[in-house]
Amino acid sequence: MGGAEEYVPEGAGLSGLRKAAADCRGCSLYKDATQTVFGEGAAGARVVLVGEQPGDQEDRKGAPFVGPAGRLLDKALDEAGIERGDAYVTNAVKHFKFTRPEGGKRRIHEKPGATEVKACRPWLVAELAVIDPDVVVALGATAAKALVGPDFRVTKQRGEPVDSPDFGRVVATVHPSSVLRSKDRDDAYAALVADLKAVARLL
Ligand code: URA
Ligand code: SF4
Repeated sequence: MGGAEEYVPEGAGLSGLRKAAADCRGCSLYKDATQTVFGEGAAGARVVLVGEQPGDQEDRKGAPFVGPAGRLLDKALDEAGIERGDAYVTNAVKHFKFTRPEGGKRRIHEKPGATEVKACRPWLVAELAVIDPDVVVALGATAAKALVGPDFRVTKQRGEPVDSPDFGRVVATVHPSSVLRSKDRDDAYAALVADLKAVARLL
């Protein structure tokens, strides 16, 4: 499969892109997922936050960051002084990738590979071209690699603006799910908020 490129309508706005993305077959992930989870927020948003891929709840509801990671992100944005109305939220990969251990009912998140990130990138490019935000925030390594390049290291460069040739100013931080998994959740959360405050200062 040749990636999302051929499914992206030229000159479309966000609603046209969203509609077209619902029928994307640019990689095999559409086969097992419930639906495409496109980005959400205003076309005039000044900041775009990019996650990895929808999770179980996002896949069911068809909206990004509506599960536990999304609740943590909303709280962190609020503490950093970034209004939800100023933010557009999306993912590097727009279908949920998962496995079912022992063929059971439970769906376990599986990290998308470089091939899927590359296949789905035209949707991200199109969303960002329409919105043209002041800052793009990469939430975790998958988003950072999609936005800045394969050599980017979130641990070394988090919280600092870097210039991406395709996307303008990008600030990377950790993924909110990693805060939920962290042994030291309070510290990890405080560091996420600090990075988002650095983003707020750029707006
Ligand atoms: N994790 C993500 O990266 N994106 C979502 O939308 C939800 C959880
Ligand atoms: Fe298309 Fe992206 Fe879904 Fe693959 S993950 S089918 S490229 S929308």
